[in-house]
Amino acid sequence: MTDAVRLESLHKTYDGGVTALGGVTATFAAGSFTAVMGPSGSGKSTLLQCAAGLDRPTSGRVFIDGTELTAVKDTPMTKFRRRRVGFVFQDYNLLPALTVEQNVLLPLRLAGLRADRARCRSVLGQLGLGERLHDRPEKLSGGQRQRVAIGRALVTEPAVIFADEPTGALDLRSAREVLTLLRAVVHEHGRTVVMVTHDPTAAAYADSVLFLADGCLAGALSAPTADAVAERLAHLGEVAA
Ligand SMILES: Nc1ncnc2c1ncn2[C@@H]1O[C@H](COP(=O)(O)OP(=O)(O)O)[C@@H](O)[C@H]1O
Ligand SMILES: [Mg+2]
Repeated sequence: MTDAVRLESLHKTYDGGVTALGGVTATFAAGSFTAVMGPSGSGKSTLLQCAAGLDRPTSGRVFIDGTELTAVKDTPMTKFRRRRVGFVFQDYNLLPALTVEQNVLLPLRLAGLRADRARCRSVLGQLGLGERLHDRPEKLSGGQRQRVAIGRALVTEPAVIFADEPTGALDLRSAREVLTLLRAVVHEHGRTVVMVTHDPTAAAYADSVLFLADGCLAGALSAPTADAVAERLAHLGEVAA
């Protein structure tokens, strides 16, 4: 079976000279839910952005659903990303001038796909937003906005959805709703989710956890519990040393 995502020896050095990734190799199986954890500055966001084609690694290769993203130029990479990759940001990144429905339809329009309103409405219905189609984001709570963003990430039926601290701006209850939703996206809808989080409780919603320290992989944990994750995080420095 083709992995949803394969990362081969990803290195990233930013213009100022900071090395954010020091050679990361990892695979994410189709239909899996993986949390990526590590101290602040350990390269989590850089890893996600390079894997998603939002940024380019300095060297190394990224495969999404068997296609090498790093082998293609910017324009086809953007085109591929729009169809095959979903991204959920901590601060939602919804367009304030568009309605909920228009926000969710946008990736289809950008990808040159049919603006399938029936599918859009069905996705939003499943997310509990069936009554909010014509509202603008400013009328929604944080948790509702993040659910719209998840709908937007789902609508093109991508090979993978990357989420960078998707619950970082939410209260506990909304965070739990969003995490339950992400888990359902994987276990009921068969999607693949890779989620960065610094919260062990959030990580425990995933099937497994990858730990990063100083831009390198520093271990993994399957069937994580919040306690086991917190314990591992506390000792990450020692593992990496
Ligand atoms: N655009 C950038 N330009 C220069 N350095 C950056 C940039 N983005 C991140 N970094 C640096 O790269 C390292 C990893 O950052 P990041 O991937 O954001 O880590 P994390 O998400 O784990 O906190 C940090 O030292 C950070 O300061
Ligand atoms: Mg980050």
